[in-house]
Amino acid sequence: MKITENTILITGGGSGIGRGLAESFHKKGSQVIISSRRQQALDEVTSANLGMKSLLLDINDRDSIRSFSQQVAQDYPGLNVLINNAGISKLEDLKSPPDYLEDAEAIVTTNLLGPIRLTAALLPLLQNQPHSAILTVSSGLAFVPNAATPTYSATKAAIHTRYRYVTSSKAPQPR
Ligand SMILES: NC(=O)c1ccc[n+]([C@@H]2O[C@H](COP(=O)([O-])OP(=O)(O)OC[C@H]3O[C@@H](n4cnc5c(N)ncnc54)[C@H](OP(=O)(O)O)[C@@H]3O)[C@@H](O)[C@H]2O)c1
Repeated sequence: MKITENTILITGGGSGIGRGLAESFHKKGSQVIISSRRQQALDEVTSANLGMKSLLLDINDRDSIRSFSQQVAQDYPGLNVLINNAGISKLEDLKSPPDYLEDAEAIVTTNLLGPIRLTAALLPLLQNQPHSAILTVSSGLAFVPNAATPTYSATKAAIHTRYRYVTSSKAPQPR
């Protein structure tokens, strides 16, 4: 992927790793758009980085992803990079069902279904660009799962596998 002169959407760009990525790409001369659920967090980052833009999105909401993607296509027709960064992690005790079920389902929705849905919704726009890229933030726990965060580790392994096959030209073809 080229590092400068992109139009980049970063989910979860109002804090942590997403904010770090947003500010780095902004400094390198890309138009950066950050998204998340909290307007205040987004405003804090955009006001510290002149020219950076933001759009609210709850990635757990399938219908919002559709309308959000239409808005992105309308406002930023040159969008060529999507960074799926938004994610959540919670401790789970697998010996205490059903206590962990609600958290486990939320983790799958945010970390796995969210990126799948958003990527599908934005793919037609990304495919129109000469230099497009999709980056998805996984975790070391995809490779060395943590017993205290089993569902989180599983979603990160799934994300790694899914996007490896989408993006790698060396990936084995399905039989
Ligand atoms: N920190 C680590 O050690 C580490 C290690 C490996 C991988 N990662 C991964 O790196 C990514 C960023 O994590 P981080 O450490 O920077 O944590 P973070 O600061 O908590 O960032 C997570 C971001 O995701 C957003 N988010 C959460 N749920 C969302 C939802 N339903 N819709 C839209 N946005 C949502 C949050 O914004 P709102 O609350 O405003 O929605 C927040 O900005 C995650 O995918 C995480 O799994 C982190």
